[in-house]
Amino acid sequence: MKRSLPRSRTRRIRLPRSLRARLISGLLVLLALACATVGIATTVALHGFLVSKVDQQLVQSGVRYAQSLEHPDAGGLPGDTRAQSVGTFGARLADGRLAQAAIVDGDADDADVGADAVTLSAAELAAIKALPTDGSVHDLDLHEDGYYRVRAVAGRDQDILITGMPLEGVEGAVHRLEMVELTVFAIALAVTGVAGALWVRLSLRPLDRVAATAVRVTELPLESGAVALPPRLPDSDPDTEVGQVGTAFNRMLGHVETALASRHSSEERLRSFAADAGHELRTPLAAIRGHAELARLHPQPQAPEVARALTRIQAESVRMGAIVDDLLLLARLDAGRPLAREEVDLTLLVLDAVSDAQVAGPGQHWVLDLPETPVLVTGDKDRLHQAVANLLSNARLHTPAGSTVRVCLSRLPQPLHLVRLVVADDGPGIPESLRSTLFERFTRGGGGRSRTDGGSGLGLAIAHAVVTAHQGELTVRSRPGRTEFRLDLPCVDP
Ligand SMILES: Nc1ncnc2c1ncn2[C@@H]1O[C@H](COP(=O)(O)OP(=O)(O)OP(=O)(O)O)[C@@H](O)[C@H]1O
Ligand SMILES: [Mg+2]
Repeated sequence: MKRSLPRSRTRRIRLPRSLRARLISGLLVLLALACATVGIATTVALHGFLVSKVDQQLVQSGVRYAQSLEHPDAGGLPGDTRAQSVGTFGARLADGRLAQAAIVDGDADDADVGADAVTLSAAELAAIKALPTDGSVHDLDLHEDGYYRVRAVAGRDQDILITGMPLEGVEGAVHRLEMVELTVFAIALAVTGVAGALWVRLSLRPLDRVAATAVRVTELPLESGAVALPPRLPDSDPDTEVGQVGTAFNRMLGHVETALASRHSSEERLRSFAADAGHELRTPLAAIRGHAELARLHPQPQAPEVARALTRIQAESVRMGAIVDDLLLLARLDAGRPLAREEVDLTLLVLDAVSDAQVAGPGQHWVLDLPETPVLVTGDKDRLHQAVANLLSNARLHTPAGSTVRVCLSRLPQPLHLVRLVVADDGPGIPESLRSTLFERFTRGGGGRSRTDGGSGLGLAIAHAVVTAHQGELTVRSRPGRTEFRLDLPCVDP
């Protein structure tokens, strides 16, 4: 059976989150510990020292006062208080009973020094009786008169003489020391807290700059293109850990910048290669297509294999021409070449595109949901048509006959100035393996199709690039039985 630990054991000490707060609180805890240690040590030492002084005084004064208690003076005062310090306690036990007990009192002024008889409680009496008579010094709590150091000595006629010195002075001195220490330590803690916080803030400032620069780098679009990295951190002392972090960070930024620059230049080379190759291929492709057409239409009878070969040559050159056109368009979009900026009625555009798709794919059920009023966007009509047509051709080509394709165009509620086109089908869904790279070039499903009769895998890359060039967004959600492409574009307000 699983048993949970008691709460107190599982509870963890919560440390402050920020490094700054941790350093300052650690500093304060250590200083408080040091203060407490110093405070306890000095208090104990002073107390011990003063008590030993009292003990010395007690031993030196002997038992004269306790002895004198037996003979009250002419004025009836108990004992001979001459040369006795104020607070001295004397008691005499005769035959195990308390005979006299008195405390010297009065001002320090000798003339007024006298003595008062004291009445002891049963507990105090019991404590006095329990004192060993070997002259050793012990503590005694005379409740009303405070703590005493006392010693008992056997007198001449079987009585026991007890003399004591008050600890009041010792306690007062120790208490005073404690108060002074408490005040000094409190001030030291407060000053250390404030000064430490400033110092730590100052020392960690370069780290803040590193963090701020790192955040700016993470916000940059590093995926592609030319990227301008933020300026380097100012040089800080390389002998400090924080300075080393800053230097290493600067070096890392340098490496990242070099890597990004070399990636950008190779992207540029690839792009211009694709564009150049596309242009170069266009003319020979057109020639191949034209010659194949010419040969196919030649009036002289042809062997069936030759006729089939010519048809294939013509069909493949048309397909290749389409791929070259797609690659050229992608190269143009990559290069950020400006697109046409005209007012486009998406309602009409979608209507046309769905009509075309319906003719091309009569096997699917096409359901169209358009708003009643025109939905206007600013952009390149032909490119937008191409993007929408690519989504529709996918819904047609990658779903079995009998599938339903829903196309819905709507304006998103204000304050979003967006228009959304949803193309959803109930086909088998996009294979899991394609989803992460769906909008990249040449990503296409296998599904038993061969490269000759399948698509080229450029349709979604083009749709995505066109939508992005229009400051829009193309997203997809897919599971078996439901694939939904959402195309959001900024719209012109009605
Ligand atoms: N509606 C859909 N249902 C199922 N799979 C889809 C759907 N749309 C796209 N796919 C998958 O995504 C792949 C990439 O689509 P994309 O349009 O980029 O290329 P393609 O259709 O294969 O070729 P083409 O360049 O001719 O469009 C497809 O090959 C297909 O596997
Ligand atoms: Mg496609």
